[in-house]
Amino acid sequence: MKSENLDRFYKFHSVIYDITRVFFLPCRAKAVKLLKPMPNDTIIDFGCGTGYNLKKIYNLSSETSLVGVDLSSHMLKKASKKIPSAKYYKHDIGTINIKYKAEKIISSYALSMVPDWQKVILNMKKHLKKNGTLVIADFYKFSGFLKIFYPPFSLWLKAHGVTPHIEITDFLKIHFKNVEESIFYSGYAFIVKAKDPV
Ligand SMILES: C[S@@+](CC[C@H](N)C(=O)[O-])C[C@H]1O[C@@H](n2cnc3c(N)ncnc32)[C@H](O)[C@@H]1O
Repeated sequence: MKSENLDRFYKFHSVIYDITRVFFLPCRAKAVKLLKPMPNDTIIDFGCGTGYNLKKIYNLSSETSLVGVDLSSHMLKKASKKIPSAKYYKHDIGTINIKYKAEKIISSYALSMVPDWQKVILNMKKHLKKNGTLVIADFYKFSGFLKIFYPPFSLWLKAHGVTPHIEITDFLKIHFKNVEESIFYSGYAFIVKAKDPV
C-alpha cells in the first residue's frame, strides 16, 4: 500500500485494531518468546503497528532497548502510548536507515503488506549484528481442511492490502546460516526464525 493510503487506512483501523486483530493475527506472542529478549538487547520491530510485540517484549524484559518502525503515524501514536520508553521512526521499512545495529529484529504481519518484501528482509539483515536473530510471523497458505476457505479469505486479505509471501523462508535460507520455519493452524500462519546473517 502507498504511504498516503496506508495512513488513511490506519486512521480508522488504529482505533479498533487491538480488539479486532486478537483472533486474526495469531502467533505474535509465540514469535516474541522465540526471540528470547534479554536486558542488554536492542530489538527493532519492523512494521510495529500499535506496539503489540513491543509491549510483549517489554513485559518479558523491561531493560531491553526497543525500537519501532512503521509508516502509519496513527499506529505509532498508539504504540508510543503503550510503551513510551521505546524509540519510534515513522518510515518505510524497506528504506529505513538506523545508525546502529540490533541483536534482534521482529516483524509480524507487515511483510505481507509490502510487494517488495525481499528489499525489507535485506534491510532487516543490514540492521542486524553478527550472530543476530530475526523472527518473522505472517500469514501462510491455508492447507488441510482450511483450504476451502482460502479463496474468500484471500479476497478479504486483498481488500486489506495483504498478500501472503510463502517464499520468505527460502529467501532467508540464502541470507542466514540457520533458518527454522514452523507452520500453525493448518497453514493460516507461520513463524520463521533466522539466525546468523551471512
Ligand atoms: C497488519 S499490521 C501489523 C502490526 C504489528 N506488527 C502487529 O502484528 O500487530 C501491518 C503494519 O505494517 C505497517 N506497514 C505496512 N507497510 C509498511 C511499510 N512499507 N513501511 C512501514 N510500515 C509498513 C502498517 O502501517 C501496519 O502498522
